[in-house]
Amino acid sequence: MYQIRLLKQSLVVVVLLLIASACTYDFIEMPNPDPIDPTDTVSFQSAVVPIFTSGNNCTACHTTGATAPDLTASKAYSALVPAYVNLNDPESSSIYWFAHPSSNTHGWKKLSLSEAGIILGWIQQGAQNN
Ligand code: HEC
Repeated sequence: MYQIRLLKQSLVVVVLLLIASACTYDFIEMPNPDPIDPTDTVSFQSAVVPIFTSGNNCTACHTTGATAPDLTASKAYSALVPAYVNLNDPESSSIYWFAHPSSNTHGWKKLSLSEAGIILGWIQQGAQNN
């Protein structure tokens, strides 16, 4: 008799566990790009801007008079700082996460992981116009 009750109880536990696990959902993992060596200064003009402009990677759409932010070489800095960067929490900067390779916010061209790392490093270093 005792064994049957034990069996029933463990069955209840198993069913409850199954229900609980069925309700969990997968978080989208944001793999972190390799951190930039803090002694390597990330230049906005020579490291960040080319991500946007080479091969019209981003500027195909994010150009003057078109979709914001304007990522053309002469306008990108004022378009991005301060609106798209968060110096207190660099990873929450929208220029970093919006087109991050594992985001589902930007249905268009995504950054590569290493490009995202360069942008994050630049923001961590104060998002300077350098
Ligand atoms: C094919 C066109 C296209 C390309 C190429 C493109 N984007 Fe976009 N992007 C859009 C559009 C359209 C929106 C606004 C609609 C939306 O939310 O998707 C947008 C929105 C954004 C936003 C958010 C804007 C805001 O005000 O919140 C960011 C940041 C962004 N894109 C960055 C990039 C970066 C970085 C690249 C290059 C890797 C890029 N985009 C390439 C079309 C494009």
